[in-house]
Amino acid sequence: MKRVTVRDLRRKKERGERIVMVSTYDYLSAKLCWEAGIEVLLVGDSLGMVFQGLDSTLPVTLEEMIYHAKAVRRGAPEAFLIVDMPFMSYQVSSEEAIRNCGRVIKETGAQAVKLEGGREIVELVYKLTLSGIPVVGHLGFTPQHLHRFGGPKVVGKEEEEALRLKEDFKALEDAGAFMIVLESVPWKLAQDLTQGSQAITIGIGAGRYCDGQVLVFHDIVGLYEEIKPKFVRRYLEGAKLFREALRKFKMDVEEGNFPSEEESYGA
Ligand code: KIV
Repeated sequence: MKRVTVRDLRRKKERGERIVMVSTYDYLSAKLCWEAGIEVLLVGDSLGMVFQGLDSTLPVTLEEMIYHAKAVRRGAPEAFLIVDMPFMSYQVSSEEAIRNCGRVIKETGAQAVKLEGGREIVELVYKLTLSGIPVVGHLGFTPQHLHRFGGPKVVGKEEEEALRLKEDFKALEDAGAFMIVLESVPWKLAQDLTQGSQAITIGIGAGRYCDGQVLVFHDIVGLYEEIKPKFVRRYLEGAKLFREALRKFKMDVEEGNFPSEEESYGA
């Protein structure tokens, strides 16, 4: 088995090849992604909203992330696998954070962890990197800071905010983050950050000039209908197709058309 590595991803950036990432939570969707040629999978804490039906990512636990990451790994054993560290699993102390990140790597087979935040997590990023745990940063709109932001927003439109984001980006990069997700950031700012950086930038609502792009599986296939941010492109109306199939099944059972003779065992 030849697993995709950090080195493979760095090479892609050097060659100007775009990196494709999908946020996914289970065995089947991970398998479909890998079969479609998607090499980087993220087990995002967006699973709190998309999988669990919560109204934010904040209640998601470390145990839940580990459970989902194991399923995703089974679906795509060769993919580069990143796992989101959930809210309050890395903020309390460096010691606890390193222990929790270590658990994720050891128990799930993931190759990197993703942490939200800038300067406030730089020391931790440095320690994790030194310990052999590759770190993916996440800047711009960071859903774990929902209450500070007061709701989803574009970050970096104002000069002062853009400057702060640039400083956070540089600090994360210097501390060893090999990849940084930029969420809801003006495209020009994301382009500037990408051009001057060693770190691989992955955009979500950050325009086309990042080194790669990420979307959530359920958004790509149109299964999550609750929210559709501007940056989501649906490639399938999955929810409509699923409902249609389920209605047909219901009708067939009610009308005595299911199961047929071929779908039944003989006497
Ligand atoms: O939780 C998630 O799925 C994410 C991506 C959308 C970047 O953080």
